[in-house]
Amino acid sequence: MTDNGTVQKVAVIGGGVMGSGIAQLAATVGHEVRLVDVSPERLETALAAIGTSLDRFIRSGRLETDQREEILGRITPATRIPEAVEGVDVVVEAVLERLEVKHQVMTEVAAHAPAEAILGTNTSQLSITAIGSVLGEGASRVVGMHFFNPAVLMRLVELVKGLETSEDTLRRAEDFARSLGKETVVCLKDSPGFLTSRISAILRMEALHMLEEGLASPEDIDKAVRLAFNHPMGPLELGDFNGLDTYLDALTGLHAAHGERFRPPVVLRNMVAAGRLGRKSGRGFYDHGG
Ligand code: NAI
Repeated sequence: MTDNGTVQKVAVIGGGVMGSGIAQLAATVGHEVRLVDVSPERLETALAAIGTSLDRFIRSGRLETDQREEILGRITPATRIPEAVEGVDVVVEAVLERLEVKHQVMTEVAAHAPAEAILGTNTSQLSITAIGSVLGEGASRVVGMHFFNPAVLMRLVELVKGLETSEDTLRRAEDFARSLGKETVVCLKDSPGFLTSRISAILRMEALHMLEEGLASPEDIDKAVRLAFNHPMGPLELGDFNGLDTYLDALTGLHAAHGERFRPPVVLRNMVAAGRLGRKSGRGFYDHGG
């Protein structure tokens, strides 16, 4: 529902980690959701993950048992974009982070969705302007809608205005995000790293430099950030959690865009070169038993 209680028809494109969370969120507040993925297996996994997550909400008393089937009943899985975007008000694209794939998806969406539908992209790194550029005048409908993982729990949606994004698109994206129970911030210019990735990268950079300087152990650097600033995780353990290769890619992009202050520290480059990628490889700043 929007702020004024209107149910919207929403298409979420991409049923991975983020897309499944966004679909769950939208269905939970009462929107009618089509969840699209090229892979039927990914769709099955997405629906199973949503079911498991809803069970957790029920166990913790945040949902009633009978809401489970209602919510799942509002999510229609699909493998094709044209039919799924028919008659929708909002599209949220959450396919993999490659510009050519986002271009292909946006082109297909724009060809079949109603002309007044807004087209949100959940990109974390790419330019909103570049993603919208394939649509000509349609770029005014494209807006950054950056959710955070896990989308069902994190409170913020970072909205990003591309060069061509219209005020009306931005306002409707804001309204939609609020209907999901989220707070919003608006990044007024399409700049690499938007607001949140730049701020978190600086924190990470300092943690890495302190480690290089031998100021403290990884444990103490993380503990300092957790307890002094009330962060749920410290920057080094978060790096292990998300993958240090992902960490390095993000910093490399920010370095190219904003210069020296984001130069990836040697300690991080060495970890990635050695294949110590964090949890997924069993070893990063911490030992994960791999
Ligand atoms: P993921 O790899 O879990 O899911 C991507 C899904 O897109 C896959 O299921 C894949 O089958 C599907 N897909 C690929 N091409 C498609 C197409 N042409 N049409 C329909 N579906 C297609 O990726 P994840 O982590 O969910 O990320 C999605 C987007 O969200 C990326 O742009 C990423 O940068 C962004 N993001 C990710 C965050 C995270 O923590 N994972 C946080 C915020 C944004």
